[in-house]
Amino acid sequence: MPQLEKLELIIQGDFIWSYGGKEPKQPIPNILNKIASEYEFIGHTADTSVETDLLSMLLNMHDYNHQNGTHRALFQIKEVLFDKFIDNGHHSHAYYNMPTKSASIGEKISNLGLLFIPEVIKAHLENYFPSIVIFHGESSAGNVEQIHIFVPESPTHTRTYVLMFGLARNYFFRAFASKFLDLAKVVVEQDSDILGKIYPNSPQKLKLNNEVGMDWVRRNFNNYPQVVEPNLSNTGLRGEYYDNIDFKNLKVNK
Ligand SMILES: [Fe+2]
Repeated sequence: MPQLEKLELIIQGDFIWSYGGKEPKQPIPNILNKIASEYEFIGHTADTSVETDLLSMLLNMHDYNHQNGTHRALFQIKEVLFDKFIDNGHHSHAYYNMPTKSASIGEKISNLGLLFIPEVIKAHLENYFPSIVIFHGESSAGNVEQIHIFVPESPTHTRTYVLMFGLARNYFFRAFASKFLDLAKVVVEQDSDILGKIYPNSPQKLKLNNEVGMDWVRRNFNNYPQVVEPNLSNTGLRGEYYDNIDFKNLKVNK
């Protein structure tokens, strides 16, 4: 007799999914198949079991201010200029621009990642709550699709890893594609390091205007699998409006 029950697997194109034996509460998104059909697979990296709960992991990933804190040294980001947020319930898009400090030759030699950092990083994140965040990166040399996956393992541990796809427009991009994987690995290591130390028990005293992604996470997490009001589209520049909203006690939007 087998000691473990068989895990039901769902094969969708190149991807194998599982609901972990739980009752499905939402369909499997088709976005990974779409990316795999249009882009070349570069590789995977940073398969990590992080000592944090799923909510803290998601809050960090949707905290658009943490790029110039946690990842400051890596990307030399000067500031985060939030542009817009499109809220489609459990699916959303966030757009923001991050001007970077111009690096000296010395800095570029000691931190090779800086060679790939443009003057302004134009970020377009596409999010599928709760399990996927995709960074769509475009440049004249090529496009990168950096896919972050989140799997809750226990109340105190969340697994994450990165799948990367690319579309090269020149030889340079193709030759250095594996460098993007190295960069993504460092990003996940920096996040993992900070995650043990922040969020869960620290009361928030300051509300910043580009926290719409975190508001989206709290709203969806506290009401899952329902999608409730308010719709958070295009609210990145009007932060004060949300200061008094209690995301735990929102009405169901039928
Ligand atoms: Fe991060």
